[in-house]
Amino acid sequence: MKTAFLHPSRSSQALASLPPSLARLVKIIRASARLTPEIVCQCAIEAKVDPQDLLPWADFKHPVTDSYGRQLVYHGENFEIMVMSWLPGDFSAIHDHGAAEWGAVQCFGAAEHYTYNFENGLLSTLKRTDYIPNSVKQVDKYLIHQMGNPGKEPFLSLHIYGKDSFEKNITKNSRIFDLFEGSIKLTDGGVFFCLPESQIKQRIYGLRGDAETTLRHHQRMRDRLCRILSFDSDTQTDIKLTILQLERKIASLDSLNNADNHSENMARLSLSSK
Ligand SMILES: [Fe+2]
Repeated sequence: MKTAFLHPSRSSQALASLPPSLARLVKIIRASARLTPEIVCQCAIEAKVDPQDLLPWADFKHPVTDSYGRQLVYHGENFEIMVMSWLPGDFSAIHDHGAAEWGAVQCFGAAEHYTYNFENGLLSTLKRTDYIPNSVKQVDKYLIHQMGNPGKEPFLSLHIYGKDSFEKNITKNSRIFDLFEGSIKLTDGGVFFCLPESQIKQRIYGLRGDAETTLRHHQRMRDRLCRILSFDSDTQTDIKLTILQLERKIASLDSLNNADNHSENMARLSLSSK
């Protein structure tokens, strides 16, 4: 099915330079008559990639303004393979995967992972499904998620994104859900917090989030900004201002949360006393 998209010279040259497990992964994907999120997961499991094989693409020295390290390993005719590097405290923004129709992520650490629902302008949390190290999760065209490293050790993850037709940039027009700005940002690059303007292709305003989602978003964004500030505390007045605004919103969402919990506890108490 995909023969028409092959670029033999470029692909075979890149393939020859890959570690055996990654070359195996490329061959298994190419040999699949049909590709779906389930099948791509199986391809990743079958390839038996060891995290050591990903070390040439590890990027633990990524700039502090990048929310995590991001390196392209292989670009096939209709899919790409990437390696992401997660330092302790690195979290992606809430995002989808642009033009990708199917994919899989194998994570070699205990990543925190949340999925989200977006409907009528409102972003809400679906569920928390953290990674067990080495496990593989599906990526479908509807997936909106956020992952990161809440632990003390860095780790790597392997990402496969693809679509049924040829695409030069599989994850182009990825959406970043920015609940601080109240906008969806379109980008072709990393799904980072506080992207520079040069990386934002378009903004769509009117995004809202439920309290739980907004609180988590703001905490993660604040943490990233504090980290940026800790590297360069002199020139970042706008960052300091944003952190202060985030702190205020976090405190107010926290008290809302606590008030809700208090009401729920009181309701439980009154039920149990009946
Ligand atoms: Fe993602």
